[in-house]
Amino acid sequence: MSKTPLKSGEKILFTIFGVFFVLAMIGYGVLEYIRLNSEEPLFVQRTFFDFSEKGLKGSELYRKANCNACHRALRSGTSMGLSLDGLGSKRSLEWIEAFLRNPEEVYEGPTIDHGAPPKEAAYVSQLPEEDRHLIAVFISELKAEPGSSVAKVPPPGRSEFIDRMVGAWAPEEWKEKYRDIRERLKEEEQAQERLGETADE
Ligand code: HEC
Repeated sequence: MSKTPLKSGEKILFTIFGVFFVLAMIGYGVLEYIRLNSEEPLFVQRTFFDFSEKGLKGSELYRKANCNACHRALRSGTSMGLSLDGLGSKRSLEWIEAFLRNPEEVYEGPTIDHGAPPKEAAYVSQLPEEDRHLIAVFISELKAEPGSSVAKVPPPGRSEFIDRMVGAWAPEEWKEKYRDIRERLKEEEQAQERLGETADE
C-alpha cells in the first residue's frame, strides 16, 4: 500500500472533526460528573401513568401494533414520531381516538406518516375499531404534571418567569387573538365554585 500524504483540505477537515470530537467527549465527561455528584436528579421525571384495565389492554395492543417503531411511550421506543408520554394531559381521549381513525381530517396541518396509504402509518386507521379505542385509552392515560413541557396546563400559582416570557416574546396582536390559559382556567374554576355554591343552597 503506497502512502499518499494528506491534502491540506483533508488536514483541515480532520482537525475540525477532531476538535469537535474532543469537545463532545469533554462535554459528556463533565455532564456525567455533574450527574453522578449532584444530590438532585438532573432530569426530573414529569410524566406518569396509572392504567385502568382498558388502558393495560391498550398498552399490549400498542406494542403489538408496532407504534414503538416511531413513537416513545413509557420511556421506550424511538423518537422518529412524537413522544406520547404525557399526551393524555394535552389531548382528550376523544381527540386521540378521532386522530387514530381519521388523522388527516383531525390534524391541524399536513401529516407525515398517519393518513391514507402509502403513508407509513396508514395501517393505524385500518386497525379494528375496538383495538383503536383501547390504544386511545392507553395513550389518554399517559399523563404529565402541570407545567411540564408536555402538559397543556401551566404550573400552579403565578410564575414570574412565564409572565416575563409572555411579556417579552408574545406579539401584541396575540393578546387580542388568544386568551391566556391561566386567566381562562381561573374563570373556569370560579364558575365551577359558583355552580357548587348554587348546588349547596
Ligand atoms: C411510521 C411512523 C409511525 C408509526 C408506525 C406510528 N406513528 Fe403515530 N405519529 C407519527 C408521526 C410522524 C406523527 C405526527 C403526525 C403525522 O405527521 O403523521 C404521529 C402522530 C401520532 C399521534 C398524535 C400526536 C399529537 O398529539 O399530535 C398519536 C396519538 C399517534 N401518532 C399514535 C400512534 C399509534 C397508537 C401508533 C400505532 C398503532 C402509531 N402512532 C404509529 C409516526 C408514526
